[in-house]
Amino acid sequence: MGLDHKLFHGKTLAILSGGGDTPAINSSIESVRNRASILGYKVYGIRQGWKGLLGDGQVVDLTCQPYNGLYGGTALGSSRTNPFSSKEGENRVEQILRNLERYKIDVLVTIGGDDTNGAAKKLYETEGIPVIGFPKTIDNDLRTRTMHHYNGQDIEAVICPGFPSAARTVTRLTNMLRTTTESHKRVMVMEVMGRDAGWLTATAMHGGADMVLIPECPMTAERKEFFFERVKELYMRNRKRCLVIAVSEGTRWYDDETGKVDVVYASSEKDEYGHARFGGVSGVIANEISRRLGLDARSQISGYYARAGECREYDRRLTSTLADKVVDLLLRQAYGQMPVLNRVVHYNELEEFNTSSIDMGSIGNIPLPDVYYDKNTFSVTDAYRDFLGHVMEPMKMMQFDYDFPVVLPENK
Ligand code: F6P
Repeated sequence: MGLDHKLFHGKTLAILSGGGDTPAINSSIESVRNRASILGYKVYGIRQGWKGLLGDGQVVDLTCQPYNGLYGGTALGSSRTNPFSSKEGENRVEQILRNLERYKIDVLVTIGGDDTNGAAKKLYETEGIPVIGFPKTIDNDLRTRTMHHYNGQDIEAVICPGFPSAARTVTRLTNMLRTTTESHKRVMVMEVMGRDAGWLTATAMHGGADMVLIPECPMTAERKEFFFERVKELYMRNRKRCLVIAVSEGTRWYDDETGKVDVVYASSEKDEYGHARFGGVSGVIANEISRRLGLDARSQISGYYARAGECREYDRRLTSTLADKVVDLLLRQAYGQMPVLNRVVHYNELEEFNTSSIDMGSIGNIPLPDVYYDKNTFSVTDAYRDFLGHVMEPMKMMQFDYDFPVVLPENK
């Protein structure tokens, strides 16, 4: 069959990625590109998110080009450009509409979180631009309405492309940190990305963290006292006298001097969607542990490592499965929608029939459900471990299991 007999021959679909990158964006781009090409679309890529539709536009042709979806990040680049926030005298929406017209783009697929897809949805509603969303975030806090069936309960969970790969990295980093922590008999406080939710930080327990602090549970003055008690208890109970504590960057912590419970800011600057940059809470906590408990404590920010590196197996399959659903949306011209998984399943069971679509944009954030976190022990529950067991392939953890008999001097 010649190209001109394909259903969407003569039409152009463009893809952009916005917001923080993840290890699974190239995989998402490649999966959508491949399927759209089969339908007959010419496929364009827009560079640097919405920024690539401003000015004269930055558009590339992806249609028959080689691509490597296993390489992490996004080859198209990303930005936090907001089409609806304009500097003086600059009308971004007009520029975007003009460029969509100039490049003859018929459909736009936006890979992003709530901000990018929210802006796309607004363009669809106010300007009639046909858009389809594609989820992504390592924070895993988009309300995708994915159900996790556990022990007779249906738990509202989330699986966003990018999270499974990031979870593996966080797990691995945590497990690596254990060796140096053990050598020095320290308390290591490891900070993990996650502005509003602890989904990602909680994965550190899979890598051997002893405790986890998440944004969902503000560390008030009372909770802090309780936390220090628990640190002391677990440290003393640990045969190797060491402890690894994972903390989300967005954890609110009681400041003894100001009397306020707040996040620690890395910068006072805000992006175009109004988000400030967090960072440094791990250092604050480590210092207080040293001061209050007299233990040798250190902090380590894992930061961008969680977003870095290659796309892992689960993400690869997930992006393909969701891209299959994009085909369905394109065929039905169901714009303003985003594909999601219905049910948390293991890698091998990821199939198109387990997907549906939801209204894209401003779908809101979903915190780590209470049923996944035990506030009394600052750790995750069996329900969360079960959830993670679906998303992550088993990993070989480093562990030193031996101990040695003590030698006493022969001449006393
Ligand atoms: O939204 C995803 C995220 O990775 C957050 O966890 C983090 O706070 C933020 O991005 C950092 O983004 P930036 O690349 O703008 O520093």
